[in-house]
Amino acid sequence: MTVDLFVTAIVGLAVLLFLLFLRNPYFLKDVSFAVTALHVAIRMNRFKKQKPFYSILDCFLDKASRQGHKTFIVFEDRSYTYSQADKESNKMARALSTHAHLKRGDTVALFLGNEPQFVWTWLALAKLGCTASLLNYNIRSKSLLHCFSCCEAKMLVAGADLQGAVEEVLPTLSQQGVRVFILSEDCNVEGIESLSDKVQQASDQPLSPQLRANVQMNSPALYIYTSGTTGLPKAAVINHERLWMSSFLLSFAGVHASDIIYIYLPLYHSAGFLMGLCGAIEKGLTVVLRRKFSASHFWSDCRRYNVTVIQYIGEIMRYLCNTPKKDNDRDHKVRLAVGNGIRADTWTEFLQRFGDIRICECYGATEGNCGFVNYVGKIGAIGKEHFLQKMGYPYVLIRYDTEKEEPVKDSRGFCIKVPRGETGLLVSKIGKRTPFIGYAKNKQQTEKKKLRDVFVKGDLYFNSGDLLKIDNEGFVFFQDRIGDTFRWKGENVATTEVADYLLMVDCIEEVNVYGVKVPGHEGRIGMAALKLKENIDFDSKATYQQVKRYLPTYARPRFIRIKENLSVTGTFKQIKAKLAEEGFNPAVIRDPLYYLEDNEGYIPMTEEIFKSIAEGRIRL
Ligand SMILES: *[C@@H]1O[C@H](CO)[C@@H](O)[C@H](O)[C@H]1NC(C)=O
Ligand SMILES: *[C@@H]1O[C@H](CO)[C@@H](O)[C@H](O)[C@H]1NC(C)=O
Repeated sequence: MTVDLFVTAIVGLAVLLFLLFLRNPYFLKDVSFAVTALHVAIRMNRFKKQKPFYSILDCFLDKASRQGHKTFIVFEDRSYTYSQADKESNKMARALSTHAHLKRGDTVALFLGNEPQFVWTWLALAKLGCTASLLNYNIRSKSLLHCFSCCEAKMLVAGADLQGAVEEVLPTLSQQGVRVFILSEDCNVEGIESLSDKVQQASDQPLSPQLRANVQMNSPALYIYTSGTTGLPKAAVINHERLWMSSFLLSFAGVHASDIIYIYLPLYHSAGFLMGLCGAIEKGLTVVLRRKFSASHFWSDCRRYNVTVIQYIGEIMRYLCNTPKKDNDRDHKVRLAVGNGIRADTWTEFLQRFGDIRICECYGATEGNCGFVNYVGKIGAIGKEHFLQKMGYPYVLIRYDTEKEEPVKDSRGFCIKVPRGETGLLVSKIGKRTPFIGYAKNKQQTEKKKLRDVFVKGDLYFNSGDLLKIDNEGFVFFQDRIGDTFRWKGENVATTEVADYLLMVDCIEEVNVYGVKVPGHEGRIGMAALKLKENIDFDSKATYQQVKRYLPTYARPRFIRIKENLSVTGTFKQIKAKLAEEGFNPAVIRDPLYYLEDNEGYIPMTEEIFKSIAEGRIRL
């Protein structure tokens, strides 16, 4: 009798599931997403209550004791087990605490490329109860100093290969009493101390958990730099809650403990560090770490190390598709790619060429309080809405005026929600469960990312700065980015920062920097409209020297347009949208145009160059 009832119930349930499946082809994936979400929510809840606080470091230490012999990091010709990594970071922590007299709560800036020492140093700082600030290793001089001072770091740890860049700013750092350590065995520059020799002599015995007893869920775990969508680079405060949430993204993407992940994206960004490295620790994965991306080594690395999961940004997927076809293109074990910004055409081409790899697009800003995951693999979408997510993270798309660069208001002065299928600005409610922590020591920029009185008086939203579209099935599509930054090669470029450097060139009177779209490329490439000083010619050489000296490659304006006047709005805001739309076609634009040729400098733009770019013969 009871068995019959049981069978009936099972059959009934199966029929119900089948009917739901017919109505919604994504039903099973929706359910699986919900299960992961609930699982994560339960774990987060437990972490919040646990005393003493359970951080990602504790998770790493658990892995080191439970699976000490498992390979944690493979780098070039070496590999390190979880247990070795633990010991290496103990030595680093002891060296730092003895020679740099670090106290808990101190902030230390890391200026390092992707290498195992990056990981040891971060773990060491966590063991000492200190916070790491992850500097972008492409930045130099003024920008480097600016970023360094954002989070009041007491100390700088730099990679041996970056000594030159450190020496450039050393006088200022010394003046501020900052201790500078370099990861080499000796250093004869006054003011820079060697660290590797001290690490070698240090003991690898564990450090007392007492040292980090002050760390709580809402303590800063890291500072990660972002241009956000406005102004100069800012240090986004990543607290432990945020770090945990980001590290669960790999679970949402369907990564298993037996996977091997390939990390070549810079560890100073949230994709490589939070989602990649911290995600790997959370799951106990093996990480194949690479100094930087190489299209020619990508698949051979994946084959050699049995990589099963890769991370990507859209540009990388296109570079991979642009490499010459090979017979062994499908000979690899990669089953999943997690990342952001792949275009629909590249996506299709990638699958056709490299085989059955599940691509999981994710969307979210380093400092944002809202994100999406395209867990069903719908080509072209950056995410799919899920009712659980909507309950936990209230977000809305609001109507936005791209000419005036502000949200459209109704007669009562409130924002207007766009109907499904229309493009709008993503804003997400700031609340207890969805906080916006903001930027270190930068109240003004933190405030700038907040929108008040959006739908009712007194409400508060985070302004993502991104224009999105959500279709009838709940798929989310990226449309554009607004504000003072644009994205190129996976990096945010702050237009104001580029403009500041250009204004230092003698011949330049006024500057307007913006991003322009290039056929076949993700994001926007840098362009600057210049107004020259009266009766002075454009000094292409000086301009090139300046951008080369101060700006990383991705931020250098690729095109320059000389204008008699730069138009401003009534409130003297520069008008970028119109210039960006006009682009860089010399057949259309009457003003003098220049093109930045690699390793050459600014040369006059020609229709020939324009054609080559449009047809993909010149790669930008
Ligand atoms: C990769 O997998 C193959 C077959 O499973 C195995 O023989 C080989 O040792 C693995 N390579 C590495 C680097 O683990
Ligand atoms: C440019 O601006 C100056 C000062 O505002 C004005 O005198 C001049 O007529 C303008 N030139 C053009 C071509 O608009």
